[in-house]
Amino acid sequence: MTLLQELESRLAAALESVLGAPTPVTVTPAADLRFGDYQSNAAMVLAKQRKSNPRALAQEIIDALDLSGLATAEIAGPGFLNFRVLPEAYASRAAALIGDARLGVPQTGAGKTVVLDFSAPNVAKPMHVGHIRSTILGDSLARIARFVGFKVITDNHIGDWGTQFGMITWAWKTSLDEATLLSNPLQEMLRLYRHASDSAKADESIREACRLELVKLQSGDAENLAIWNRCLELSKVGLNQIYDRLDVSFDHWLGESAYNDALAPLVDRLVAENIARESDGAICVFSDGKTEDPTKDPFLVRNDGEWTDFPMIVRKSDGAFNYATTDIATLEFRRNEWHADFVWYVVDHRQSLHFQQLFAVADRIGLGAMDLKHVAFGTILGTDGKPLKTRSGDLPQLADVLDDAVAAARVAVAERSRVDTAEEKEELAELIGISAVKFTELAHHRLSDYVFDLEKMLALQGDTAPYLQNAYVRIRSIFRKLETPFDSSGVPIVLGSEQEIHLARLLVRFGEVLPTILEDFRPNLLANYLLELARAFHSFFEACPVLKAEEPVRSSRLALCEIAALTLKQGLGLLGIKVPEKM
Ligand code: ARG
Repeated sequence: MTLLQELESRLAAALESVLGAPTPVTVTPAADLRFGDYQSNAAMVLAKQRKSNPRALAQEIIDALDLSGLATAEIAGPGFLNFRVLPEAYASRAAALIGDARLGVPQTGAGKTVVLDFSAPNVAKPMHVGHIRSTILGDSLARIARFVGFKVITDNHIGDWGTQFGMITWAWKTSLDEATLLSNPLQEMLRLYRHASDSAKADESIREACRLELVKLQSGDAENLAIWNRCLELSKVGLNQIYDRLDVSFDHWLGESAYNDALAPLVDRLVAENIARESDGAICVFSDGKTEDPTKDPFLVRNDGEWTDFPMIVRKSDGAFNYATTDIATLEFRRNEWHADFVWYVVDHRQSLHFQQLFAVADRIGLGAMDLKHVAFGTILGTDGKPLKTRSGDLPQLADVLDDAVAAARVAVAERSRVDTAEEKEELAELIGISAVKFTELAHHRLSDYVFDLEKMLALQGDTAPYLQNAYVRIRSIFRKLETPFDSSGVPIVLGSEQEIHLARLLVRFGEVLPTILEDFRPNLLANYLLELARAFHSFFEACPVLKAEEPVRSSRLALCEIAALTLKQGLGLLGIKVPEKM
């Protein structure tokens, strides 16, 4: 049980004895440590229901409350219950973290299967910086979900069957540069794509030619299929280079094309079951009229003050299926084959209507048992406050963004690093550059836009990855000074100073913070927690001598250092960020 749960259960017992019936309660971490560690508004909520005086009820609860060995309580303001945890309670809980590989984190996901749909770039189009957010966020959520015990299946649902293939195929047949294709396939495919898309914009007949190439591909033409296959293979090699750099991997790569054969029967079934119907030659899903509040009905939009249909098209009038159809088929597969309890889609917020419609369709076709979430995110901005662009106005390529970050890290490493060889320096620059990009992403609320500012991201002082990595390295260097290796097993924790208590408080809180991240998919809670922990460590280290202290304080402080290092390493690891041993 975490401290918070322990407080809740003792409070629940007190409430039951005061009110004579079991009553649910919640305890939350206090917003401000000056008032205590935790608080509850139970007395206020209950007094309101029973029309009694909240402070008097709070006093009754406190009189009945057994907090021995755990905390003290007091009443504040209109009837808040504030709890201050006893130093000895922190000490014994910190001691319990020694040798605990889970660092006090409960298995809240045990027995449940979640499919994580993230990254999912469109093949033969470049993976751009928008995909960076999905990739980094999704990977971190996968790591966290695994750590709290979920069975996690990661699936890269790449866009490998879209209209871009008509364009690529046309350009491939008319202007392929074989040499570049061999030396830099992603660059050549990008060139082909841009060439075709520019030409199609300028010339109606080329647009038609591209469309015909797509029709040929979709009807199984051997030559076009061979080109498509080649593009797919080359793209995967290029994508994997980026994923390797980011230390991201997937259990499956079931792209859109994997569901081609399922689409026609699916649409027939939707029609047969009256879920979809024909409209202007297309097959569409309309509102079922069961949602009372039209603002909550994803199949309606407001036009000139009137609610009008906004259907989900599952087969276009030319017979082609689309993104939405594929997503329905994918969802059925994930339920039937993988027995998913949850599916989390880490996709740009601009697709939110698509997912609302998809989830509504899922309910109607009997997939309602699955808990589906669109984990949406905002935009990355340049230092000018506008969406990040290259000098030529294009969306920047992900690989270039990573290169820029590593180049900036190289400069920082040359200036301030303590590693010796050129090889070590290069390795460190790669690690720090990538970590800085990841941490900046994960330290922001996913829905907010943020500015991509390399200088800030790499600062040693600030809310950055290097700051956290440096805290870790600093702790490790304490242990390198020891003549005999430190064995923490069974070491009693003694907490004397405020700084020691605060460090222990944060170490113990790791197990409380982690499960809350998945309530609203917010790795920034973990990022912020780690920053707080690193700050607590630095204040502790300034105020409390470690190696020069007398026993038993010395061993206790060393043990706190050890747990702090492990927590930083584990916490950063769950953000997909590695720690160096020296920097
Ligand atoms: N390929 C899409 C894009 O780049 C994202 C796919 C997300 N996943 C999904 N199941 N729809 O916009």
